[in-house]
Amino acid sequence: MVTKVTEIEGPYATIPLRQLIVGTRLPCDIFIKENRLLKVFLNRGMLYAIISKELLTEKGISNVYIHTRDIPDFEFYISRHRSSLQTDDDAGSTAEFKKYSYNKERFHQIDPALIKPGGKINFGLFLRDGLNFHPVVEATDDMPAEVGEGMPGDSGDMVIKRSDLHRYHEYISALPELESSESNKPGIKTLVLKEMTKIALHDFFDDPKSGKKIKKIHALVNEIIGSISGNRDAICTLLSLKGHDYYTYAHSVNVAVLSIGLGTAIGMKTGDLEKLGLGAILHDIGKIAISHEILNRQGRLNDMEFNIFKNHVSEGEKLMRSHEGFPDESLVALLQHHEKLSGKGYPGGLSGSRIELFGRISAIADYYDVLTTERLYKIAYKPFQALQKMSGETAHYDPELLKTFIKILGNIK
Ligand SMILES: [Fe+2]
Ligand SMILES: [Fe+2]
Repeated sequence: MVTKVTEIEGPYATIPLRQLIVGTRLPCDIFIKENRLLKVFLNRGMLYAIISKELLTEKGISNVYIHTRDIPDFEFYISRHRSSLQTDDDAGSTAEFKKYSYNKERFHQIDPALIKPGGKINFGLFLRDGLNFHPVVEATDDMPAEVGEGMPGDSGDMVIKRSDLHRYHEYISALPELESSESNKPGIKTLVLKEMTKIALHDFFDDPKSGKKIKKIHALVNEIIGSISGNRDAICTLLSLKGHDYYTYAHSVNVAVLSIGLGTAIGMKTGDLEKLGLGAILHDIGKIAISHEILNRQGRLNDMEFNIFKNHVSEGEKLMRSHEGFPDESLVALLQHHEKLSGKGYPGGLSGSRIELFGRISAIADYYDVLTTERLYKIAYKPFQALQKMSGETAHYDPELLKTFIKILGNIK
């Protein structure tokens, strides 16, 4: 069955095994990884039979690979067989999905790069695999655990329980001091900054009327601006964590970092960067008013659900207007992040010059981050693929800003 061997470094996309549907003809060659090499497991047009699934499961394989040029065919295949996926036992029966949606709210995604082998932790670590969360390290205050070698980082998202957030906060707060002697690790401080920002966002989303918590976010936005202006590579470090699923806090930080990066590249002054960053980091705050089931829904929303989803923009505006001193310019980044130059965006359907600079920037940052994030029915674009796709969408996004955006991100792998 295995016919061809190739280097793993090629332009291949990872596909969770559960996206292959038993009884269907495959839309492209399917590869598996063995000893860091990719081998063709099934060819385009072959039947994906129960025996193939069992063989892969026996080998402990949870991901397969396809060539990136086959992504459109594969996405068409997924959309055509979406109903089969939704009724598949392990991939999304209503009860399973509800459990997943509920569970996801109880976990917080973390960056495994900060969990060092040999270090002691007093919080449990879990790995998200599809709709399930599996314990990887069990630890508590009474029974701390030492982190072993070889954490399973690339097979799913590493998460902790939300009830352990303060323990994780203490753990990462101590990291820069521990690492300060290792001057060749400048990334630690930046990674910690990103994780701190996600925790602060979590606190604010839980208590969005709090003036104290928004001040904390404001201070962290300033730190992000400082770390980006001192070091362009910080953009990459701050973006390094791409989840296998959609996480609002990681997305919010990414959109802020990308917006600040783009603002910096066009020579924006610090005061403006601050307002832009603040609006960008809170651009999706209105999602707290939308049900988890709609937010976590994998696949296309129906018209009614999409209308509900769109309300996150006006809900966000309402909320942030209630904060005295929240700048009007920041509101623009929030209000216009789904507008398109073509007039096909929402909520205003604004076109051309009616979309202001902060809106144009946050829309580009938001779109890029959505493209590069994987969801159950959507393959994540690699950065260069996302940029390539965006470069053809000048009818929707500001062409000059797109050009600059592509230039600053062009070297991200
Ligand atoms: Fe949004
Ligand atoms: Fe967004």
